[in-house]
Amino acid sequence: MLIVLAGVLEGEDLARVRARLDQAVWRDGKATAGPAARAVKNNLQAPGLADLGAFVMDALKRHPLFEIAARPRRASPVMFSKYEPGMDYGPHTDDALMGVEERLRADLSYTLFLADPESYDGGALTIENAAGEQAIKLAAGDCVLYPSGTIHHVAPVSAGARLAAVGWVQSTIRDAGQREILFDLSMTRMRLANAPREDVLRLDKSISNLLRMWAEV
Ligand code: NI
Repeated sequence: MLIVLAGVLEGEDLARVRARLDQAVWRDGKATAGPAARAVKNNLQAPGLADLGAFVMDALKRHPLFEIAARPRRASPVMFSKYEPGMDYGPHTDDALMGVEERLRADLSYTLFLADPESYDGGALTIENAAGEQAIKLAAGDCVLYPSGTIHHVAPVSAGARLAAVGWVQSTIRDAGQREILFDLSMTRMRLANAPREDVLRLDKSISNLLRMWAEV
């Protein structure tokens, strides 16, 4: 399941991130790719922006849907990527295990779009699923969460520059189907926020008990 988190960065926060990236030093993205992805990765990345990455991660964590969509246990550092004309990232699947000192199992990947979609041509994140391919190109500040194990690619950029923040999340709920059940129940709970307490008590109980059954902490 793909989940779009709208408006993770807006206004001054989005402007701040873009201003920092305007000044960033960009390097070949192959340096951070796993062995399988290196051959098809053709983009730029800005290393050494840990504080900016933490700023973006804080914005993600504040988003009302991030917690119930990802059930995060730990997250990778945020990476910033740029695709200029002629650049793309061919079909690949993300590494299952990342990090050296702190190991992370990548359950979910995210792409937070930072450039206005009208400002560049191409560059859609394209994800394979049972029904075919889904091409995703979101407004600046919007983020898509998707399963790391899918085959996906970034279509070639033919004009302008595609800027994004990307990263990976290890979920407390390893199984995507279980995560989806909990997401649906939690969305329903949010819609019933104003319902009488006694009417939603058993829904709260069920969400809590499914978390007890399935969560790894
Ligand atoms: Ni990927």
